[in-house]
Amino acid sequence: MDPLVFVIFGASGDLTERKLVPAIFQLFMNKSLPDNFAVLGVSRSKLSDEAFRKKVLESELFKPKGASSEQIEEFGKKLFYQAIDTGNAEAYGEVKTRLSKLDQEFSTGGNYIFYLSTPPRLYETIPAYLAQQGLNKEDNGWKRLVIEKPFGYDRSSALGLNKKLRDFFEEDQIYRIDHYLGKETVQNLLVTRFSNGFFEPLWNRNYIQHVEITNAENIGVENRGGYYDHSGALRDMFQNHLLQIVAHIAMEPPITADAKAIRNEKVKLFQSIRPIVGEDIGKYAIRGQYIASKIKGEPINGYRDEQGVPAESKTETFAAIKFFIDNWRWADVPFYVRTGKRLPTKVTEVAITFKSPPQALFNNEAGLQNKKNKLIIRIQPHEGLLLNFGMKVPGQGFRVKDVDMDFHYSELTDAYVPEAYERLLLDSIKGDPTLYSRGDSVEAAWNFVDPILDAWKNDPDIKLFGYPAGTWGPKEADLLIAESAVNWRNPCKNLTESGGFCEL
Ligand code: BG6
Repeated sequence: MDPLVFVIFGASGDLTERKLVPAIFQLFMNKSLPDNFAVLGVSRSKLSDEAFRKKVLESELFKPKGASSEQIEEFGKKLFYQAIDTGNAEAYGEVKTRLSKLDQEFSTGGNYIFYLSTPPRLYETIPAYLAQQGLNKEDNGWKRLVIEKPFGYDRSSALGLNKKLRDFFEEDQIYRIDHYLGKETVQNLLVTRFSNGFFEPLWNRNYIQHVEITNAENIGVENRGGYYDHSGALRDMFQNHLLQIVAHIAMEPPITADAKAIRNEKVKLFQSIRPIVGEDIGKYAIRGQYIASKIKGEPINGYRDEQGVPAESKTETFAAIKFFIDNWRWADVPFYVRTGKRLPTKVTEVAITFKSPPQALFNNEAGLQNKKNKLIIRIQPHEGLLLNFGMKVPGQGFRVKDVDMDFHYSELTDAYVPEAYERLLLDSIKGDPTLYSRGDSVEAAWNFVDPILDAWKNDPDIKLFGYPAGTWGPKEADLLIAESAVNWRNPCKNLTESGGFCEL
């Protein structure tokens, strides 16, 4: 692996402490990093190298598992810090000088990753100012740019951002991060589908009745109200993370497992999702906002009472969308995707419901006529897979019982499951963009959500429904899926379903 300096812009921010430094440390512990390696934190806050090390390594967010104080100290020696005014072009000369010194000291061959963990308004500025210093040029070592979400605020800003970035960096230098793609279980969707002989023949409109994806969080917006109110559930979760899951579920088999082939199939898929427009938006895109309630006797704030949220806010904290994919595989198969804050539990899962057998042979005895098999893919937590099917109850007659066959990742006891950020950062270091979003794919995903966002903003007739904190969202979301004569699967712990409410 090539040596490098990993530069974090926005280094005094929360993500650096919460995700980036812990992930880099874990890679260091696993000996996954090259020997010649350094991290340079860049931010406005005035900190010395020592103060930066202390801030990130003594943070309560840094929880090194099984590391000795010597190992933490050794890692600390690779961390450096440079304070600059990130909005001032001249200041990037200081970054360049500092990088040259580190490059010599650690023999990193001029290979730099610039990780942008800053407010999005700097996503255009920083690359432009780096380029002014020649820090985009690859004549002496490679240069890569990693960009955090949100990538754009809507379609036109995403297009604009892509264009600006490409003024200074080539597409193959740009890594747009979506941390869901770093989750083992999201990657495993592709392996489940394409490494087994028996799923794929059934994976189409002939056998699948509908696809359901639930992403639930029990937390509210916490102290992120200021950010969240300008975003909302559709931008925060759906446009990126959930559409990526849709892509893994629905894309065609790639011709090889390399980055180009996989990303080509994803773009095709995004382009095939039928846009929801006009009157259909009110029918097929349901939005909700949590209102105050009590959970386990404790009073819980409504969204509008959260810190940083305006009292009249119309931002959605819940979205449920029904859509179709216009291609040969999926024609007429409804996809239902919902996401929300302050739902009963934290879970992300995909539920695939298969069509009933053509003839209901055991109809009268079973009480399970029109049995529909389900495949549940649990993305998190209690990651695993569950197949639900009918079995004969022993004894006379043909009574059929619903049974489950399941696999839990935790059964792979000796396998180390890396954190999403660990996997993704390592890929950027290796130069493997497979699990990063390509520019055209981000634009195609925005194409789908843009008309919905636009209508939600401008059409006063489209309602925003309240739902009590701790419930599964507004009843209109239930009515949406009831069109397919089913209810949402409201998942609970350990892949089980307990009807309407989960353990809180
Ligand atoms: C982030 C969103 O991208 O993903 C947050 O901004 C959300 O609002 C988080 O809480 C969820 O990530 P995970 O990995 O906990 O499901």
